[in-house]
Amino acid sequence: SYVLYHDQIIKSGSIPVDPEDRGYLFGDGIYEVVFVYNKKPFAFQEHFDRFVQSSKKLELSMPYDIATFKNLMDELIHKNNMVNGMVYIQMTRGVAPRNHLYERNMQSVVTGFAKSVALDSILESQSKGIQTYLTEDIRWLRCDIKSLNLLGNVMAKRKAADYDCQEAIQHRDGTVTEGSSSNVFIVKNGTLKTHPATNLILNGITRQIVLKIADRLQIPVEEKSFSVEELLNADEVFITSTTMEVAPVVRLLGTQEQNYQIGPVTLKLQENFKLQIE
Ligand code: PDD
Repeated sequence: SYVLYHDQIIKSGSIPVDPEDRGYLFGDGIYEVVFVYNKKPFAFQEHFDRFVQSSKKLELSMPYDIATFKNLMDELIHKNNMVNGMVYIQMTRGVAPRNHLYERNMQSVVTGFAKSVALDSILESQSKGIQTYLTEDIRWLRCDIKSLNLLGNVMAKRKAADYDCQEAIQHRDGTVTEGSSSNVFIVKNGTLKTHPATNLILNGITRQIVLKIADRLQIPVEEKSFSVEELLNADEVFITSTTMEVAPVVRLLGTQEQNYQIGPVTLKLQENFKLQIE
């Protein structure tokens, strides 16, 4: 297979990994996951914009413009003969003798890879719904940055999997924030509710697209945080992410338990999201 290294697509296995890269030492870097449908990256502009925002928040230098990234992604997809799947792009602050203090304007190191995904597996979760596990949000307070520091997320996901759940739903002092790798929505009396795009969540691209669709379909939306209590009493619950699109939640496990039906608002949004994929 082929991978991205700086501004080149090269054979995998030939990337020199430097142990002094700050990505390894401090998780000092950012990433994006873009889905590819029928060889075309979906919402590439939105993902690139968020990549730039993450880089600015961490004072990481951005070595290439959007056109260069787009060309590299197309080449990566093409060389790997990928039809459907995901592309992962990472950028670390680069290589320097280990010191917590970073110097500004270091030479960022860009890497990436492509991975084919069988759409059937996603479709199954989307039609059957997923089980989720309620857990405390133990992450830092800059979850708006799509950084490589994901220990809170990976611990939450592991815990969820131990209870046969595909996703964790995190709460901070009883306020639902987001999933371990997705955003969470509830529907109550026809109104859609999701945590506002603050420092406590990642403002998902799928989340933003779903909010636009809801607006167009005149579904009432409240970008307001909601409690675990409201989660328990919701009519419908679903998660959104690049890899899962819109996936209904049918069960919540953990300190609180609940079952949910897959409801009309979720189905409408799911269907309309699919229509955007061209
Ligand atoms: N995760 N919240 C978190 C913590 C995430 O990691 C993600 C995405 C999302 C959804 O964002 P988007 O709709 O832009 O994918 C929300 C990606 C898919 C990942 O880390 O694999």
